[in-house]
Amino acid sequence: MQDELTRLRDEALARIEAVSSLEDIEAARVAYLGRKGALKEATARLAELPAEQRPDAGKLANEVKTAIQNALAARQQIIARARAQAARPAFDITLPGTRRTLGREHPLRRAEAELVEVFARLGFEVAEGPEVELEYYNFEALNIPAEHASRDSFDTFYIEGDVVLRSHTSPVQIRVMEQRQPPIRIVAPGRVYRPDTPDATHSPVFHQIEGLVVGEDVTFADLKACLTLAMRELFGPQTETRFRPSFFPFTEPSAEVDVYAEIGGQRRWLELLGAGMVHPKVFEAVGYDPERYTGFAFGWGLERIAMLRHEFPDLRELWRNDLRFSRQF
Ligand code: PHE
Repeated sequence: MQDELTRLRDEALARIEAVSSLEDIEAARVAYLGRKGALKEATARLAELPAEQRPDAGKLANEVKTAIQNALAARQQIIARARAQAARPAFDITLPGTRRTLGREHPLRRAEAELVEVFARLGFEVAEGPEVELEYYNFEALNIPAEHASRDSFDTFYIEGDVVLRSHTSPVQIRVMEQRQPPIRIVAPGRVYRPDTPDATHSPVFHQIEGLVVGEDVTFADLKACLTLAMRELFGPQTETRFRPSFFPFTEPSAEVDVYAEIGGQRRWLELLGAGMVHPKVFEAVGYDPERYTGFAFGWGLERIAMLRHEFPDLRELWRNDLRFSRQF
């Protein structure tokens, strides 16, 4: 009798444990505890036991009943809770949404996009070149020979052997001219590197946008017209420009181009870019006939443009990664 009761208990608990619906719970309850259930049947036979065994068996029968009731109740609760959860929608559509904080275009990217757009309207295409560059493209082909003083103004990170981090975007001129024949009209924005200590106006990593135009009768007047137009597009129709004689090994003549602009309520001349007529030596390096082709080139610093456009005094703001900075613009 005792064995039968414990077996009954074990079997019932195992079955209840496996049940997964409220209907099956009810079926299990009826099967064990119901009026015609297994436990009723077993306890009915208690009366047949010898009198001295009855109390123990009766006690066990009660314990088995309690165990089964408890198991049924616990299982029922688990199933009911799972059901309630499944019935609920996956998320509460009445809650306010989580707002995605949209970023802002970085002022440098904006300056780059604006310049590219201005030049695209003037018929320029965008070209690109590698930031890890050969000395040949960064220097020799641009008429900057080794051991020559002109190299000093292009302080450069050397990687190894003849591999450098480009110190300006001018090597893209060479790469483009090697690839195709005139007419050429390209701008090449990108990152450049120089071993400068960071301060308000210097950074070892900065950005330039290079321009190159080559054709059969491109003159200095075209250079002036093109750059003056670009400046007016950028800084407004009243903008004045100034071309000062300068020197670059890869242009002759060369000019430093200034713009007369209002910065922080003050109008003054600002040095903006280098430019000039492509040096015949540069054409020779790429196999163009310098008797037939002429051209002009220019290089702007993008940080400079961003600082002028948005009137902030320290270029380090550009990579301090404080979102409040770019959000103001
Ligand atoms: N590459 C020059 C510099 O980095 C700028 C420049 C480009 C000047 C093209 C003339 C023509 O300073």
